[in-house]
Amino acid sequence: MKYPKEYLDEIKTRLKVSTVVSKSVNLKKRGKEYVGLSPFKNEKTPSFTVNDEKGFYHCFSTSEHGNIFDFIMKTQNLKFGEAVKTLANFAGMQPYTFSKQDEEREKNWKEYKSIFARYVEKYHDELFKNPSAESAKNYMKSRNLTAEEVKKFKIGFVTNNQNTFEEYSKNFDKKILKETGLFYFDDKKNKFKERFNDRVIFPINNISGDPIGLGGRTIKSSSYLAKYINSPETPFFKKGSNLYNLDRARKLSNKEDFIYLVEGYMDVIGLSKAGIENSVANLGTALTTKQILILNQFFDHIIICFDGDESGYKAALRAAESSIVELKPEKKISFLFLPENEDPDSYANKYGKEHFINYSKNNTLLIHDFIFEHYFKQVDGNPSSYAIFEKKLRLISSNIKDEFIRKYVLEFFLDKVSQLTPNINNTYKKSFVKKAKSLQSTQNYYNETKTLKPVELKEFSLLYIILKKPNLIKKNSYLINDVKIFTNENNLIFKELINQTNNFESSDISNLKIDETLINRIYKYASVKHILDKNFDDDQKIIEIFNEIIRDLKNYELELRIADLESKFSKDLSETTFNELKELKKQQKTN
Ligand code: UTP
Ligand code: MN
Repeated sequence: MKYPKEYLDEIKTRLKVSTVVSKSVNLKKRGKEYVGLSPFKNEKTPSFTVNDEKGFYHCFSTSEHGNIFDFIMKTQNLKFGEAVKTLANFAGMQPYTFSKQDEEREKNWKEYKSIFARYVEKYHDELFKNPSAESAKNYMKSRNLTAEEVKKFKIGFVTNNQNTFEEYSKNFDKKILKETGLFYFDDKKNKFKERFNDRVIFPINNISGDPIGLGGRTIKSSSYLAKYINSPETPFFKKGSNLYNLDRARKLSNKEDFIYLVEGYMDVIGLSKAGIENSVANLGTALTTKQILILNQFFDHIIICFDGDESGYKAALRAAESSIVELKPEKKISFLFLPENEDPDSYANKYGKEHFINYSKNNTLLIHDFIFEHYFKQVDGNPSSYAIFEKKLRLISSNIKDEFIRKYVLEFFLDKVSQLTPNINNTYKKSFVKKAKSLQSTQNYYNETKTLKPVELKEFSLLYIILKKPNLIKKNSYLINDVKIFTNENNLIFKELINQTNNFESSDISNLKIDETLINRIYKYASVKHILDKNFDDDQKIIEIFNEIIRDLKNYELELRIADLESKFSKDLSETTFNELKELKKQQKTN
């Protein structure tokens, strides 16, 4: 039976881990922690540590890790309930007596769990065996899924005209059957019918791996059917407190330090197929702070990667504003924007794991950068738009719960704002002139497509010149010796272009092994095009421009290192990091 969280918390507050552990292990204080000989292994040098602040013990030689309850269960070989009784007694508390309601709820939960387990198993089985599931099987194939993924995620298909409610009423309590949300009452037919009829179903598990809800996708392309429907909220399924695939992904927390948070079931499955297992999806509703907190228990870095379309962008912005509230110094939240019309599933399917990871490394935006950039796009040069902008940034930072993060995010925002408004803060005057210019010039492009970053635009200009003036670049091949390209796609294009430079006589791009849409993007967004077209025959000038772009890209590298250090500093608050940071900032200003 489940103890209420408050009761367990009360025990934890009364008993420090070191108090419990020191009953059986000799502990010595070392800094904030205690160390001692591991109770899980015979050893001579202590590898067992206890941290009261975090409420955990950790054994470095056996990787045993846990709280006071785990410790008692493992060292005294007790069940959880017995450990709770022992520790409550030790803490001077009354043993917990379960009320009638507790017992009732526990009974219902067991029933609910077995209904779901059986239901999921039944339709998973039918997907493989029932001839009427042929269309669903074909659908799986068309989505590039093999039996392996179907089994791993226990995907099923609810074939037409089933009588599951009646069948299950023989073995299960009708009240609970209704509560599962798997059925709805059809007034006309006067009976319960399958909610997920004729849909592919994706079981949603709780953190321990028991299915508690479903997502169902129609495989018909009809405009009046919702593409996905999800289980309704039930006594045991709360959408805002669960995440699809959390039960599997959390097990990777000691291997991976980040988790991808994506929009859809198919994104999780597509990533898994590509070999990326550390992903979860929220369940067709807005991201909740509870979900962020749950993920943070396991992963220090959450990378939110929604679809590369307008609704994905909007959802990301909402997620940013709600999750920044919970940001902690030792945690990171970033955003990854995919190219237009891609989602993690399609992108990973097309390009594979390595490319996806690389793309993600080069394109994630930290939460405060994303928020800043978004609101900066709304500024149109009017004083009132600046006022709204600054107020909004102040409001967002004031909502952050952690006082240190609150302080530094505010500082970060105000620092950037003052660079844009040098007359009311002239400390940043020098860098302002340069920065404001480049920001202003990219402003229009920003509005056109939300996914392009300034560095990408720069790279487009570089590629544009190579595309338009292959001979010039060929003659002056030293120019490209130390070009640094940050965006994965652009890097591939760059390599391909250089590869072909030798054959290139004109701007004939038909031989290139590059997707035409990518080339068109370069033509569309390279800001250098007007200057280049105007000075097409002035080679000297073009070389100058080319060099300038290369220099800007190098500066970008510096910015990245600064951003890295800033995030490090926000974690370690160390003087060395601070000095390093100062040095880099100085370099940046003199460049
Ligand atoms: P998407 O439409 O992006 O889903 O919605 P997807 O996974 O890319 O879809 P396909 O199968 O590849 O075409 C993302 C998520 O939003 C919720 C679902 O949870 C879905 O996984 N959603 C979407 C709904 O709840 N209802 C809908 O009608 C559509
Ligand atoms: Mn999608």
